[in-house]
Amino acid sequence: MAEKILVTGGTGYIGSHTTVELIEKNFETVIIDNLCNSSTEALKGITEITGTEPAFENFDLCDYEKLLDCLRKHKNIKAIIHFAALKAVGESVEKPLEYYKNNLVSLLNLLMAMREFHIPALVFSSSCTVYGEPDKLPVTEESPIKSASSPYGNTKQISEEIIHDTISAVPGIRAICLRYFNPIGAHKSSLIGELPLGTPMNLIPYITQTVAGIREELRIFGNDYDTPDGTGIRDYIDVGDLARAHVKAISRLLEDRNKKPVEIFNLGTGKGLSVLDIVKTFEKATGMQVRYKFYPRRPGDISRVYADTSLANKELQWKADTPLEETLLSAWKWEKRIRNLS
Ligand code: NAD
Ligand code: UD1
Repeated sequence: MAEKILVTGGTGYIGSHTTVELIEKNFETVIIDNLCNSSTEALKGITEITGTEPAFENFDLCDYEKLLDCLRKHKNIKAIIHFAALKAVGESVEKPLEYYKNNLVSLLNLLMAMREFHIPALVFSSSCTVYGEPDKLPVTEESPIKSASSPYGNTKQISEEIIHDTISAVPGIRAICLRYFNPIGAHKSSLIGELPLGTPMNLIPYITQTVAGIREELRIFGNDYDTPDGTGIRDYIDVGDLARAHVKAISRLLEDRNKKPVEIFNLGTGKGLSVLDIVKTFEKATGMQVRYKFYPRRPGDISRVYADTSLANKELQWKADTPLEETLLSAWKWEKRIRNLS
């Protein structure tokens, strides 16, 4: 019988791609999402890609009673992947209480429900933001955690601590925290992808919207960093590769019960690329020109970060291997599809 996985935030960007991968690996999925940053279109996309409609429950995870009702209805959940969170760094500075409440109360509720219903396994979405501006590159899972530069980043640090403390005290629960670097791209079918509301904050949606004529030009924030071309360096990882790492993490939790109770893995490519590298590769992959201008540095940005991925490569037997051109082309195809461009 197919094992049942609860995916919180499953209609969101990374959650929808992961649900597809889970279904394709014969897991049964139940999604909880309150649609505060996504829509039911993602469910249609998942269904069209996989031929299977995931079970869907629309409610806020901060509502504990509804979560208990949901778990009474969907019995026998074997593991949870917890994507649901608010994730806009700038907005979190303006609305810290909303961010702390949403991201922390939903996690506390889930952990209490896991204890109540004896659900033994959790995969948690963390972020490379916990490393801040690293002293040494690439960053390993042992690199120091820096004090968070935004309430959003702080929710990830606190969440990891809450998970550690809970798992030390509650026997029978294990967790894997996955620290994502910069997820980009869309499913190759163009049926699911990233849907930023309003003006995008992240690089790739800003590029695709500029090329689609929605934004006048890409503003490149800073060309005076201490990097080869002066622009910021990040580790951009294909969302499909990222999704597949979650399936590996779930399988590890379900199949191999002798591992440490809490494990942490970096999920990136191991390669640091500059903003200009991305622009040039996007142009090559799509044949489209990106208009851009240099602007001052964006407050709060770091100059460079990229992952040492050897632990995930070895322990999860996983590697991000989608070529960057393919990923950038998928982002452009997705933008064209949602804007009805030919
Ligand atoms: P997303 O906004 O597309 O997906 C999150 C989903 O969670 C949305 O569908 C939203 O409606 C839902 N949600 C939020 N709060 C909820 C609540 N209280 N109850 C029920 N549903 C709720 O974001 P994403 O990019 O898919 O990110 C998924 C996770 O990965 C988040 O935890 C995010 O912090 C983390 N992460 C993302 C990135 C990135 O660049 N996208 C990087 C590092 C970490
Ligand atoms: C940011 C967050 C990170 C979060 C991630 C996903 C910070 C410090 N980090 O990562 O915590 O997990 O988003 O939401 O905010 N850039 C431009 N022009 C743009 C947009 C971006 O030049 O219009 C540059 C940035 O300066 C940076 C790179 O592109 O060098 C990537 O930026 P972005 O996509 O926003 O991701 P991060 O800042 O790395």
